[in-house]
Amino acid sequence: MTTNNKRKGIILAGGNGSRLYPLTKVISKQLLPVFDKPMIHYPLATLMTADIKDILVISTPKDISAYKALLGDGGLWGINISYKIQPSPDGLAQAFILAEDFIDNDLSALILGDNIFYGPDFSDVLRKASNNKEATIFAYHVDEAERYGVVEFADKKVVSIEEKPENPKSNFAITGLYFYDNEVIELAKSLKPSARGELEITDLNRIYMEKNKLNIEILNKNYAWFDSGTHESLLKASIYVGDFQKRYNLKISCIEEIAYKNSWISKNELLILAKKIHNKYYREYLEALID
Ligand code: G1P
Repeated sequence: MTTNNKRKGIILAGGNGSRLYPLTKVISKQLLPVFDKPMIHYPLATLMTADIKDILVISTPKDISAYKALLGDGGLWGINISYKIQPSPDGLAQAFILAEDFIDNDLSALILGDNIFYGPDFSDVLRKASNNKEATIFAYHVDEAERYGVVEFADKKVVSIEEKPENPKSNFAITGLYFYDNEVIELAKSLKPSARGELEITDLNRIYMEKNKLNIEILNKNYAWFDSGTHESLLKASIYVGDFQKRYNLKISCIEEIAYKNSWISKNELLILAKKIHNKYYREYLEALID
């Protein structure tokens, strides 16, 4: 089987958001607001910034229809969005098994629906990772590394990878954005469930590390990264987005703006889109992009 150079993106918006109870009792976590946008807009914007136009949204049987109502087929932004149900939350790596037909012979990228990234020249960093045919993970320095997948590295070479270790070997969390080759589908199928009964993304990354095919990009402190899966991080993300947008008079992760700047929609299409938006500020922001 030959692998193409095209890369497809997956947003995993599943889970039951138990850490955000009771916010998530009736609303899916990745639909909750992060300042002025639904959470899922941020990972969608990240994939679009990586130049990825074909995107699969994976969610629960209960919530998938809400994502369809929110994002539709992506045509408004010049992209293709399709949907897949994850019948039960059996681990992040399961996404690649569910996405087998969607990925087909192409390369892939996975982003977790609660991960928010923002930083300087992020598109260059993403495109570099996307052009690399091996796997790439993104690390970020954190205080409480035991809450995350943790990566230890030397000279940009990954030395160890552990999921939520009691005694982390470094302070670098593995963020919820992963670039893989096409083999990821077969490798995901070969995984055995962990002690907590899930197909772990960390086990998948360890296989790539052992094959010497795991690259690492370190996002420094000029970047913001939030895994907005707890009340505190959700609030921090909202405050960051609100403050930054006000201070610099721009929008973080505005999908209409990215589509326009990527030339996926024309001036005219942007104007038509803007006209339909009832929120005056959002509409005027999009209209101003044209001037
Ligand atoms: C997941 C991954 C973990 C990663 C984190 C990033 O954890 O298992 O390796 O560091 O996402 O957001 P979760 O947040 O699902 O517990």
